[in-house]
Amino acid sequence: MPRHTIVSMPGDGIGNQVLPEAIRVLDAVGFEADYVHGDIGWEFWKSEGNALPDRTVELLARHKLGLFGAITSKPKKDADAELSSSLRGKGFTYYSPIVTMRQRFNLDICVRPCIGFPGNPLNFIRKKPDGGFEEPQVNVVVFRQNTEGLYCGVEWTNPPQAVRDALASHAKFKPFANVKGEDLAISVRIITRPAAERICRAAFQWARKYGYKNVTICEKPNVLRETSGMMEDVARQVAKEFPGIPLWSTNIDAQTMWLTKNPEDYGVIIASNLFGDVISDAFAGLVGGLGFAASGNIGGDVAVFEPTHGSAPKYAELHPPIVNPIAMILSGAMLLDHVGENEKAEQVREAIAAVVREGNVRTYDMMRIPGGPRAIAQGAASTVQMTDAILAKLQPAGMRDKVSAAT
Ligand code: NAI
Ligand code: MG
Repeated sequence: MPRHTIVSMPGDGIGNQVLPEAIRVLDAVGFEADYVHGDIGWEFWKSEGNALPDRTVELLARHKLGLFGAITSKPKKDADAELSSSLRGKGFTYYSPIVTMRQRFNLDICVRPCIGFPGNPLNFIRKKPDGGFEEPQVNVVVFRQNTEGLYCGVEWTNPPQAVRDALASHAKFKPFANVKGEDLAISVRIITRPAAERICRAAFQWARKYGYKNVTICEKPNVLRETSGMMEDVARQVAKEFPGIPLWSTNIDAQTMWLTKNPEDYGVIIASNLFGDVISDAFAGLVGGLGFAASGNIGGDVAVFEPTHGSAPKYAELHPPIVNPIAMILSGAMLLDHVGENEKAEQVREAIAAVVREGNVRTYDMMRIPGGPRAIAQGAASTVQMTDAILAKLQPAGMRDKVSAAT
């Protein structure tokens, strides 16, 4: 395997606590990589007027692989107020660096596995007719289109006259035609066929590679006839390339109901940007929530892996850190899969599974106690202790070589 260089972007808050833990695990599993630091986040908005400095963009363009922790973003008013006084009034506008990164490198495929580890006390359980309980094995991977849809950023309050005129050519705009500009907000939902094809094909390829029994397109084509209609149409076309993997179709609203009824029935799920955001959070809630939710943002050239959670500022100053590093470590395992180090990725996941199954080491979220300075005294593991427990379950590299040489 070639030696990789990974752009390490811890960002803000707890991103700085969890990302180094993922690197400790990647090192321990024998991943041959160098790490270069990439500046990103609120500090760089305040001091430079750019939360994703050009030098970080250049690092990503050069090295193609990134690990990202989390960023803090704040409403416009706060962003403007916190900008360095020397930059104020000079036309700087805050943009989310992760959204900018997705668009700049066309990281259009967002992969979000929601896979339950047996023994996790946060797993979804279901009541049985006889009064007992059962814990369905949730194993879902959401493929979220990451660059288009309602998050494409084409939106206005008080749209310009040319936009109003164009909309007025649509019969359904009639009831809104006389709404005053400042009372009219519009967000455009854009779906393009090539991007829809890429997300659908990536989802089916994943299903085939990892043996998922079905792929579901989760949209709302009965109402959003054009955009969801195109997603569904493309999914049907792409499905023909993958005989043997059935394509199911659900509506986003119904899917959020069914996911607590029969989550074990679903495999790979495809959705446009907003629906994918919603449904991946919803499924993540069945398998442990933010402490377990990893993701990959994958483009044709560059890929960046990150936990789904944010910077959790209220826990960022605690010593020792208390947040769960598993989501970040699982994001590192996704990076391993992406570069073809599937065996190492599996070792990482098996080590996590062993720690979760044994249940001796649990961060505060896994104990269902409030986070905060008292969590450790109440028996919660710190961020570092959780990683240490995972490291202890990894076979030493020498042992692994002996085992694979013997088989
Ligand atoms: P958040 O995900 O940072 O935290 C919400 C709550 O979830 C935390 O207070 C904590 O109780 C829990 N939590 C999060 N990560 C955890 C972990 N690893 N282990 C245990 N518990 C964990 O979301 P919030 O509070 O809405 O946003 C905080 C900041 O993060 C905001 O500035 C927001 O804009 C930003 N954000 C950034 C994201 C990113 O970098 N991709 C994603 C979501 C929010
Ligand atoms: Mg989300």
